[in-house]
Amino acid sequence: MRNLNFLIVLLIILFFKNAQSIVCDPPVGTPINSPTGKAIGVHAGRVVWARDPKSATWDGVTGMYYDYADADVIQSMLDKAILELTGNFDLYTAWGSIFRYHNIRMYKENRGYTKGESIAIKLNLNGDFIKYSDNNGNEATPEEINALLEHLTKYGGVPQNKITVYDSSRLMTPHLVSGIHSAFPDVVLIDNLGEIEYVDKVTTDFSSHLQFSSSAIPGWNLTMLPECATKSQYIIPLDNFRGHRAAGFTLTGKNFFGSIYMPLINCSWSTLIQPTHYCPKSLHPFINVSTNNFGAYNPLVDLLGHPNLAYNGLLYMSAGVYGGASNIEEIDGKLAPAPPVKFESEPFNNHWSSSILVSLDPIALDSVGFDILRNEPNVPLAKTGCADNYLHEGSQANDPPSGTIYNPTGKKQLESLGVHEHWNNSKDRQYSRNLDPIKGKGIELVEIHF
Ligand SMILES: *[C@@H]1O[C@H](CO)[C@@H](O)[C@H](O)[C@H]1NC(C)=O
Ligand SMILES: *[C@@H]1O[C@H](CO)[C@@H](O)[C@H](O)[C@H]1NC(C)=O
Ligand SMILES: *[C@@H]1O[C@H](CO)[C@@H](O)[C@H](O)[C@H]1NC(C)=O
Ligand SMILES: *[C@@H]1O[C@H](CO)[C@@H](O)[C@H](O)[C@H]1NC(C)=O
Repeated sequence: MRNLNFLIVLLIILFFKNAQSIVCDPPVGTPINSPTGKAIGVHAGRVVWARDPKSATWDGVTGMYYDYADADVIQSMLDKAILELTGNFDLYTAWGSIFRYHNIRMYKENRGYTKGESIAIKLNLNGDFIKYSDNNGNEATPEEINALLEHLTKYGGVPQNKITVYDSSRLMTPHLVSGIHSAFPDVVLIDNLGEIEYVDKVTTDFSSHLQFSSSAIPGWNLTMLPECATKSQYIIPLDNFRGHRAAGFTLTGKNFFGSIYMPLINCSWSTLIQPTHYCPKSLHPFINVSTNNFGAYNPLVDLLGHPNLAYNGLLYMSAGVYGGASNIEEIDGKLAPAPPVKFESEPFNNHWSSSILVSLDPIALDSVGFDILRNEPNVPLAKTGCADNYLHEGSQANDPPSGTIYNPTGKKQLESLGVHEHWNNSKDRQYSRNLDPIKGKGIELVEIHF
C-alpha cells in the first residue's frame, strides 16, 4: 500500500514535470505589449505590411500559382511599403535614407550607396530540392524579387551586375531563372550547383568564420560562408512567409540555414544531387520546437547576429504574396514541396496571403510575421512549441533567457538584435508604439490594405 502511494505520488510528479517541460511564450500572466530588446530602424521598430488581394489571382487548381502574381500590383505594394518604412515622399529619398541608416549603424559613416559596392539578396529556396524542376512549392515569386530589383537599380542607383541573388544550399528553378533573367539580365544568380544556364555555382570564402555559440552542435566551430555574402557590402534577406516542420515558422532567422558551409557535415538531401557541405543538418535538433524549451539556446541567433549574414541586412523583407503552411509536405510517404494555402483569418478572409512585409529591424519583422502566421488556422505549424523563442533570445542577445554567450564571430558578444513583442490582439493588431507613439519602445506596425 505504501509502495502504491509512493508510486502514485511519483507518477503525479512526473506528469506535472512533463506537462511543464515545454513552457512557451507568452507564459500565462505575461503582460501583453511588453517589448524585449532594442528597436532598430529609421523609425525604430517599424514594420510595414502591404496587402493587396489583387496581387495573387490563382484559382488554386489551374497550372502553377506563380503564373498568377501581378507584377504591377506587387510593384505598387512595395512602393508604398518602402515610402512608409522611411516616412519619405519619394522613393529616391527613401532608398537614400535606407542606405544611410545602414552605413551609420554598421560603420558610423553618414553616406549612401557608394559606387562599386555590391548587394546580395538571399532567397530561401528550401523547397527546391529536385534538380532544376519547377514545382508548386510556396516561395518568393519572380514578381516579388523583380519588384525589389527594380527599386535597387532605379531608386538605389545600384548597377545590375553589382547585385547577386542567391541560395547556396539549394537550386534555382527554371521559372525563377527566366523570370529574373529576362527582366534583369546582368543580375548575378548563384545556387548550390550552377548547372542551369545563367546560374553560377556558389564559391566558399575559406577565410571566413562563423561559430555557433553552443559546442553541443557538431562542427560548431568550423563554419564558413559563401563569397557572395562575405564580399557584399549589403545583404537583403528575402524571406518566404510560411510554417516550418521543425522551427514552427520560417522568416528571416531560418533563411540563413542556406548560407553556411560546414566542412565536417555532409548533406545528401536528394538522391538526385551530390552531397554538399552547404548543410545545416547538425543545427536541426536545436531549432526543433517540439524539443526546445522557451529559454533554450537557438542557433538562429548566431545567424541573425553574424556581420556577414543577417546582421548586415540593408532591408528585411518577407515575400508573402503566396504564403504557405509548411516548407515541405508528405504525399504518399514521399516528401514534396508544400503549395501555398489560403489564409482564413482576418483580414485575408480566405484569400492568398497577398502580402509583403518590410522592416529595418529583423526581430520586429519576424515578430509581426509570426503573430500573423500563428493566428492563421491554415498554418498550424506556427502554433507548435515555443516557435518564437529565438526572438526572445535574439532581442536580448546581450543577456538572453538561456544565459548563452552569443558570439558568432568568436570576437565579440552580440548586442540586442532588435525588438520583440506580440500584438495586443488579432483584431486590433496594436503594438506598443501603435498604442503609445511617444512612450512605446517596441514595434510599430503600419498596415496598408489596398
Ligand atoms: C573546435 O571544437 C572542438 C570540439 O568541440 C575542439 O576540440 C577544437 O579544439 C575546437 N577548435 C577550435 C579552433 O576552436
Ligand atoms: C522534432 O523532434 C521530434 C521529437 O524528437 C521529432 O519527432 C521530430 O521528427 C522532429 N522534427 C523534425 C522536423 O526534425
Ligand atoms: C562527405 O563528403 C565528402 C566529399 O565532400 C566525402 O569525401 C566524405 O566521405 C563524406 N563524409 C561522410 C561522412 O559522408
Ligand atoms: C488593443 O488595442 C485596441 C485599440 O487601441 C483597444 O481598443 C483594445 O482594448 C486593446 N486590447 C487590449 C487587450 O489591450
